[in-house]
Amino acid sequence: MTKSVMLSAIQPTNVPTLGTYIGALKNWVKLQDQYDCIFFAVDLHSITVRQDPVKLRELTYHAIATYLACGIDPEKSTLFIQSHVPQHAELAWVLTCYAYMGELNRMTQFKDKSAKQGANIPAGLFTYPVLMAADILLYQTKLVPVGGDQKQHVELTRDLAERMNSLYGGDLFTMPEPYIPKIGGRVMSLQNPTAKMSKSDTDASATVYLDDSDDSIRKKFKRAVTDSGTEIAYDETQKPGVSNLIAIQSALTGQTPEQIVASYVGKQYGHLKVETAEIVVQAISPIRTQVEHRMKDRAELEKILRRGAERAQAQAEKTLKKVYDRIGFAPR
Ligand code: TYM
Repeated sequence: MTKSVMLSAIQPTNVPTLGTYIGALKNWVKLQDQYDCIFFAVDLHSITVRQDPVKLRELTYHAIATYLACGIDPEKSTLFIQSHVPQHAELAWVLTCYAYMGELNRMTQFKDKSAKQGANIPAGLFTYPVLMAADILLYQTKLVPVGGDQKQHVELTRDLAERMNSLYGGDLFTMPEPYIPKIGGRVMSLQNPTAKMSKSDTDASATVYLDDSDDSIRKKFKRAVTDSGTEIAYDETQKPGVSNLIAIQSALTGQTPEQIVASYVGKQYGHLKVETAEIVVQAISPIRTQVEHRMKDRAELEKILRRGAERAQAQAEKTLKKVYDRIGFAPR
């Protein structure tokens, strides 16, 4: 029996964060045996905001090394770099012709990111979700494990799939579903617990990066902004800072927030911070060591990526051919 396709990706614009790990990577690893998996680094998406070329290249390898370090098995999963599979850009153009300005205008990530750009907003920032839809639809993907911030983009992908299927035949694209963890779908900033932990935060103490040293992780949690009062309770509205720490613990240990709260009766915020830091150190420290190891063997990474790109191209080409045929392009 053939397995359904699970697909996800990360922008190599910085080192992945604890949010990336809990919201996405951890679930990739958890589900990898049940699906035919496709994971890649989206360098095409990354240039929607200016990048330093040397850093972008290095971070692209770093992303793939992180997938491997977290436990993605390159024998089972297809790993590659988005720009190595030209079908992504080709399908993105086709879908751009079927996406509506109005629906792209409603994307909250576009609103947030374009607000930071001033007068000259790159058009790519606007069409970004269409490229993401192409990423997903090219492989007849069933499941897309992502954090909550990507839900709207997956919904747009579903709208585009439905539109194309009703125009050109219901079997053109598989309808993808997002997979978003209930706890940890939105890991919050350690400095501003009402905002998402982001890899582009200018305040380094707000974000835990997967290459942070154990000491640096401990310091960041020690300085984490908590809430007024002293009681340790799980209430995202009243106690966003404390609840964020509880959610991080819950995602990493598998205990429910209620169990965690029960274990802190009579204890103080300080205890919660120190113990959350230790749980995070235990989760991240082996990943950091593995990434360092993987980054030293560029030849091996390149071998995995070449093989991945070949496999991905073969799969992607099948869908692209079908699309070109249905929309009326003359055969190549
Ligand atoms: P990116 O690179 O911003 O984030 C990578 C993944 O990590 C999740 N994530 C979080 N989850 C919980 N809490 C957080 N604080 C947090 N920060 C990041 C994101 O939701 C994401 O799953 N557009 C995508 C990349 C992409 C993609 C795709 C994903 C391109 N094509 C196709 C899935 C399928 C992005 O910018 O992710």
